[in-house]
Amino acid sequence: MTIDYTERIPNNVNLAGDRALQRALEQWQPDFVGWWNEVGPAGTQDHDVYLRTAIGVESDDWAHFDYVKMPDYRWGIFLAPAAKERRIHFGDHMGEAAWQDVPGEHRANLRRIIVTQGNLRRIIVTQGDTEPASVEQQRHLGRTAPSLYDLRNLFQINVEEGRHLWAMVYLLHRYFGRDGREEAAALLERRSGDADNPRILGAFNEPTPDWLSFFMFTHFTDRDGKFQLKALAESGFDPLARTTRFMLTEEAHHMFVGDAGVSRVIQRTCQVMNELATDDPEKLCAAGVIDLATLQRYLNAHYSVTLDLFGADQSSNAATFYGSGLKGRFDEAKFEDDHRLHGETYEILEVKDGRLEPRRVPMLNALNELLRDDFIRDSQNGVDRWNKRIEKTGVRPRLFLPHKAFNRRIGTLSAVKVSPEGRVVSDAEWNARVTEWLPTEGDRAFVASLMGRVVEPGKFAGWIAPPASGINGQAFDFQYVRFG
Ligand SMILES: [Fe+2]
Ligand SMILES: [Fe+2]
Repeated sequence: MTIDYTERIPNNVNLAGDRALQRALEQWQPDFVGWWNEVGPAGTQDHDVYLRTAIGVESDDWAHFDYVKMPDYRWGIFLAPAAKERRIHFGDHMGEAAWQDVPGEHRANLRRIIVTQGNLRRIIVTQGDTEPASVEQQRHLGRTAPSLYDLRNLFQINVEEGRHLWAMVYLLHRYFGRDGREEAAALLERRSGDADNPRILGAFNEPTPDWLSFFMFTHFTDRDGKFQLKALAESGFDPLARTTRFMLTEEAHHMFVGDAGVSRVIQRTCQVMNELATDDPEKLCAAGVIDLATLQRYLNAHYSVTLDLFGADQSSNAATFYGSGLKGRFDEAKFEDDHRLHGETYEILEVKDGRLEPRRVPMLNALNELLRDDFIRDSQNGVDRWNKRIEKTGVRPRLFLPHKAFNRRIGTLSAVKVSPEGRVVSDAEWNARVTEWLPTEGDRAFVASLMGRVVEPGKFAGWIAPPASGINGQAFDFQYVRFG
């Protein structure tokens, strides 16, 4: 099924068959465009960008490449195809048919229905809020793009995060009545980093001022998105499962941009280390590349703030979301337990007498920690790939993930100061050494000083290597963005 782009809101959900919903979304649309113009990618009104647009949801349809004028990008509502006779496969409703509407319609316990609806709405709003937040965080990066290729990738991610917002707003409008419409409006009112009306989650209020931050963000924080979406793709609420499944196809590219972006920074730095036969940060800075210790500090910051996104290590909400069939585990089907988990336990870390100690707790309460640990394994694979890249250049590999208790603000581990190696340290030691562990003002100023706009086709800024290949088989010197 190909999507009809002559419709005002392109979709594969038969929007025309529900006039009230269509009207409501058509009223939200100009507000979305207003938001995009106000806090979306700055200065892109005349840009003609080689973008990927979904023209269908099956096989290769979703990846159609062509030039699009940025303001004319067509955001739409696309759900992955429905699975036949899908059943809820975890929690207390396991085995029942997946819900095609908000769960609870035909159940007698009204209070429980209201709680479940509220929880579902909260899950959707929390996910939805991250999408416009990242666009706001990345608003000014176009001005300092290291190449046309990178500029195009930035805009690709921005328009897709805009579409992910559409995906969540569709669910709010379609299934949550007046409350849903109010939440959809509020998604356009909160602002990343705003003192009075910030975005919901911490990492989405941090600035993304330079391209090293952008690559770390897309590597780690979009990867948090992958794990959240994977858990929601298991949902017993089928429309949520289908919409997140389609979002995941787009998310893969965002993580690729981060993973490959950092890798290219590493490549360039190691090349200069070899040329100058030095690992002295000062000499490397003078040569205009980002030394590996600075890179490690950026990694530490982005990784630790992203770990907090998974929430408290013990959470009764997480247990409720799972029990009521709203949010599953990552790859739920791969677990060989009963998928209800009432007797299962899981190991978390506790602080005892100033030390970190493992403790087993009911798994249902530790589902945030379980998902965080899945994320940590995936992140470790990323660091291993980076270290391989370093090794290939003949430089000693040295990047690592800091301990999961390092620099935490949420959960049990936020009560202690922990070094990147996992040693509990005093406040005095933390204060004395934090400049070794987290980016300093000086680091940020230095990285900012490297950021200059390079938009000549085939040219790249001096602090980053070219990519291994172009977009959609195009060459490096392809005109990925045309300026009007
Ligand atoms: Fe997204
Ligand atoms: Fe993303």
